Amino acid sequence: MDTDNTVLSHYKKHVKKINEELEKGLSSRVDLIRDIGNHTLLGHGKRLRPLLFVLSCRLCSNYGEEAYRLSTIFEYVHTASLLHDDVLDNAEIRRNKPSVNHVWGNHAAILEGDFLSSKASSIAVGSNSSLLLKKLTDTSMQMVEGQILELSYTHNWNISKEEYMGIITAKTAVLISAACACGAIISGAEADVEESLERFGLNMGIAFQLMDDLLDYTSSKEVFGKPVGKDLKEGKITLPLIYTLLSLEESERKRLESLLKSQRAAEEDYRNLIEIVRSNGALDQIRDEAQTYVNKAAGYLSSFPDSPAKESLLELNQYIIKRKY
Ligand code: FPP
Ligand code: MG
Repeated sequence: MDTDNTVLSHYKKHVKKINEELEKGLSSRVDLIRDIGNHTLLGHGKRLRPLLFVLSCRLCSNYGEEAYRLSTIFEYVHTASLLHDDVLDNAEIRRNKPSVNHVWGNHAAILEGDFLSSKASSIAVGSNSSLLLKKLTDTSMQMVEGQILELSYTHNWNISKEEYMGIITAKTAVLISAACACGAIISGAEADVEESLERFGLNMGIAFQLMDDLLDYTSSKEVFGKPVGKDLKEGKITLPLIYTLLSLEESERKRLESLLKSQRAAEEDYRNLIEIVRSNGALDQIRDEAQTYVNKAAGYLSSFPDSPAKESLLELNQYIIKRKY
């Protein structure tokens, strides 16, 4: 059994309950909403964000079953964002299956995303916690900001590491952070507990996206569940390329930039650049940086007494570095 399955198998009982709640939330009088929802959401997915919420509730001594229903907020928002992202990227594959935009078209993908993010808001309103609702809406706004920032830097080979970090923090890390912080919020925990969980999630989320961008250069389509080398083709200049470009001679950097931005760029040119990135020390450096974020995240849980929930949160945090998809 590989690392991914071994770690995730520890959470089967939680995931089963989360999946039951996710399925309930897909009920609609419109068949197409259910069909697309089943296709995109059910039967697969790590459920990392809902798991983090449930475990954060447990960490705050909240063992109520209501946590499972509320946890779906974070998977619905995540899936909504992926549906929209696949439209923006013109993607064909998601989670090892044809993407929704590819099967049903862009209009249906956007509307299903709207349905799922509205579903998340509806569940949040039902929690009667205005703090949770505020966290959710602020998070969604930041995700859109991150995505628009990313859009504005597309094909910009001068993007700095700081600008890249700003993008990944907003588009990915804030949702993982919110899942953890909301566990504290809904459990009525003190502000310092909420802050620790929020920072734990934020650092874990940054490590998550660093690894995602690294796997885009190192993994395979079969393992990753989506094509590799996709970022480069989409004109997304992520950290592996930012670091590699910094290590190249100015003339070589300019040559590659003009080649890949031109109409004459061929499949082979993309493959060559991916090889350059793979053989550059950049990937090891990024793995080390991701590990540093994971360690920093773990530090935010050090003040909590030992408990099964804390152990699980730390295990999921470490899994971010080891994951293969
Ligand atoms: C996938 O990243 C995309 C995201 C992490 C966020 C996308 C956010 C939006 C589209 C904003 C809209 C938000 C809501 C709440 C509906 P990626 O493109 O790096 O990963 P990929 O390789 O899996 O596509
Ligand atoms: Mg994408």
